[in-house]
Amino acid sequence: MSHLQNNELALDIRGLRKSYDDGIEALKGVDLQVASGDFFALLGPNGAGKSTLIGIVASLVRKSSGSVSVYGHSIDKDPNAVRAHIGLVPQEFNFNVFESVMDVVTNSAGYHGIRRAEALERAEYYLDLLDLWGKRKDMSRTLSGGMKRRLMIARSLVHDPLLLILDEPTAGVDIEIRRSMWEFLQRINDEGKTIVLTTHYLEEAEALCRNVAVIDQGDVIRQGAVSNLLTEAITQTFIFDLENPQDLKLQDLPAFDAAEQTGALLQGSAGDGITLRWRENGQLEAELPRGAVLNPLFDLLGYQQVRVASMRTKANRLETFFLQLVDANDATADATPAVPSRESSVQESRP
Ligand SMILES: Nc1ncnc2c1ncn2[C@@H]1O[C@H](COP(=O)(O)OP(=O)(O)OP(=O)(O)O)[C@@H](O)[C@H]1O
Ligand SMILES: [Mg+2]
Repeated sequence: MSHLQNNELALDIRGLRKSYDDGIEALKGVDLQVASGDFFALLGPNGAGKSTLIGIVASLVRKSSGSVSVYGHSIDKDPNAVRAHIGLVPQEFNFNVFESVMDVVTNSAGYHGIRRAEALERAEYYLDLLDLWGKRKDMSRTLSGGMKRRLMIARSLVHDPLLLILDEPTAGVDIEIRRSMWEFLQRINDEGKTIVLTTHYLEEAEALCRNVAVIDQGDVIRQGAVSNLLTEAITQTFIFDLENPQDLKLQDLPAFDAAEQTGALLQGSAGDGITLRWRENGQLEAELPRGAVLNPLFDLLGYQQVRVASMRTKANRLETFFLQLVDANDATADATPAVPSRESSVQESRP
């Protein structure tokens, strides 16, 4: 990013630190640059410091040290310019729930000094695009969770900011609405707005974003193009329930690890490097490197006449991704996993 001039940066964060009053060091010297026009994802496990970072950029949280500029305007020296350039969709709902949908949007425009006629025009444009126009007279308290989130997006855009920052915009939003929000965000990015979002969905970052930063325990541990980062070193683990596990003879495989008595490496034409091991409860676990396919495993299961009752992913890909990055970056022995390993079905790991 060093080739970029400052005026091409939508967001320029240098040496940003934040210690909360209780002593928690939420940010430990973060450097982050987002180019104008970019679609940027901030990834990180719970408590990584994402919302703290966003809060500082939006002047809702006071930094301890470091500098933040938005389109060349320092949050310390020129907070009004920064405010005008940023549209913020916070993680928590924070509008007045007793106002109508229309009022939530237009009152925010008023706060930013936008003329009433212009505010009404933009409100109509964004409420329509976000499928809330029919709800404009309803008290915002009566909206569903997904509608409330879209209302916050409409509100964040009414003063026509250059940089839109969304803190987990699709959390708790159903698949259909999530897809339509993706389309909406893609559209306004195409129209020229810079977008920074946080998400726990790897698929979301992959579908939308060009660049990502991975933040863990207050440090940016990776930064780069999505296409490079997310395809790097991601393995995926599947768990199989077998109807007749006793018929699967892992020990017959050439690369069976006799010392461990549990694991075997499946060497297949297209699927080199699938690691197989038995779990304590008798289920089969298969770990696949990037780009590997499951066919050789199914061939083996078929050949040994083992029937698969069901399969699922062991953890969602983002969690696996975090764990691998954190493991790789944090070689200290006392490190606890940043994200607890949870098991989820294939469906649940998709947005
Ligand atoms: N107001 C606060 N006072 C004290 N500590 C805080 C405050 N807000 C956040 N923290 C702490 O700072 C750290 C980072 O929190 P933050 O909310 O920025 O994480 P996050 O990456 O947004 O997590 P999540 O994915 O769960 O939203 C956590 O340890 C959190 O407990
Ligand atoms: Mg957060």
